[in-house]
Amino acid sequence: MLGPSLPTTLVIFGASGDLTWRMLIPALYNNFQKGRLSDCAHIVGYARRPIAEETFREHLREGVTTFSPDTFEASTWDSFALKLYYFQGNLDIADDYVRLDEYLKKIENDPANRLYYLATAPEHYALVVGYLGAAGMAAQADGWRRIVIEKPFGEDLASAQALNRAVHAVFDESQVYRIDHYLGKETAQNILFFRFANTIFEPVWNRRYVDNIQVTVAEIVDVGHRAGYYDSAGVVRDMFQNHLLQLLSLVAMEPPASFEADAIRNEKAKVLTSIRPIALGDTVRAQYAGYRDAEGVAPASQTPTLAALKLYIDNWRWKGVPFYLRSGKALAQKTSEIIIEFMRPPHLMFHLKDESDFTPNILSLCIQPDEGIHLRFEAKVPDSAQEMRSVDMDFHYRTSFNSTLPDAYERLLLEALEGDATLFNRSDAIEAAWRLVDPVIQGWEKENSPALTVYPSGSWGPAEADDLLARDGRRWRLGCSDEEGTIHAHS
Ligand code: BG6
Repeated sequence: MLGPSLPTTLVIFGASGDLTWRMLIPALYNNFQKGRLSDCAHIVGYARRPIAEETFREHLREGVTTFSPDTFEASTWDSFALKLYYFQGNLDIADDYVRLDEYLKKIENDPANRLYYLATAPEHYALVVGYLGAAGMAAQADGWRRIVIEKPFGEDLASAQALNRAVHAVFDESQVYRIDHYLGKETAQNILFFRFANTIFEPVWNRRYVDNIQVTVAEIVDVGHRAGYYDSAGVVRDMFQNHLLQLLSLVAMEPPASFEADAIRNEKAKVLTSIRPIALGDTVRAQYAGYRDAEGVAPASQTPTLAALKLYIDNWRWKGVPFYLRSGKALAQKTSEIIIEFMRPPHLMFHLKDESDFTPNILSLCIQPDEGIHLRFEAKVPDSAQEMRSVDMDFHYRTSFNSTLPDAYERLLLEALEGDATLFNRSDAIEAAWRLVDPVIQGWEKENSPALTVYPSGSWGPAEADDLLARDGRRWRLGCSDEEGTIHAHS
């Protein structure tokens, strides 16, 4: 008896954790406030701690007032809180899942759909899935059953494949929703609309007009309290395998046959599998000064907190066009942006003082924090003979739509509840991404090359990251802030 008309129960495993408190419940609350949660009748938190349901609700209320203060309303919260339940259980005791199933059936009363959300530490994913299977909780006789799995999905190709096997032993791929919160960001979703709902960009979106593409995801924050996880992960596992490669695949993919989940995911997987193995010589790794002093970091840690690399996509559209990717912590500015740098005009007839100073057209897709799209082009400086300057045509979400953008989790939770997997990762794409980054991570460890360099906290990273482009006659560009196109911030 499958059907969207049944009420749905959302079960969150790892309900006492940070993710539930900071992200999931505020996102659910906001969806509720927008009238979008009527089908979701019960939200059940599953965790080990023996706490009273009232205490659990109170704790979650505090989370919403802290992380979504602008939308919090006491009366709305009171109605929302009626959906919240707490079930005490262990992740590693099979019987607790059987008890959970009985409990769910009791509160559901009638057949219901179920969405299981794994917000636990990643080492428990396979375990929870296995126990859900053993308790018969993946069977879809009384409503659909879906599972949302948080990142990181594996720590290398082998472990991701093993996890996929464990998941597929219990759930069909159509029941699985692997999260990458970047895909829930409005601006990431907009990439496909920008490309395929407009006529003027797609004809130039290829090797004939594009000189290079850059993806920058820069953070000001350092590892903070997450060193325990981060020191064994590093920036490539933490950011490149998922977020950066996802952004890249949205920018580089072919038009899908339709806007259906699998049509889109086929194209994304195809582009990831067309990426040429990354040469170690085209990579840079670095660590911010002071990282090793953070609690939980090994004293001689070689974990990179910044990486930059160049890659090529070997297909008809992109052959020969370099894609430069970089991401790091403790940098000068928070910005996630994609730069499409177009070729210079074939012939410059203007009398320029210095031709090398000429700025090509640059299209900047600004993912965050100042979400928008900017197009830089050349204009004649008024009252001059032939002088020109770059100017920007800007689109900002905040002024054009006059509303604040929802958090990525709002959209992702809704889509999972509604059964649209477009914004979630399929097993083949996850594995393709690991296939690309694994040799880089292992190469760095085995060959100890390129050497790990150190960059000052609050800078734009090491000179080596600039050299990666400089040796191709290019430079990193920032197109989403007031800063001029280039970044020179070495101390
Ligand atoms: C997470 C990483 O996936 O993304 C964090 O684990 C990182 O290390 C975060 O800080 C960045 O997300 P956002 O949305 O702030 O760009």
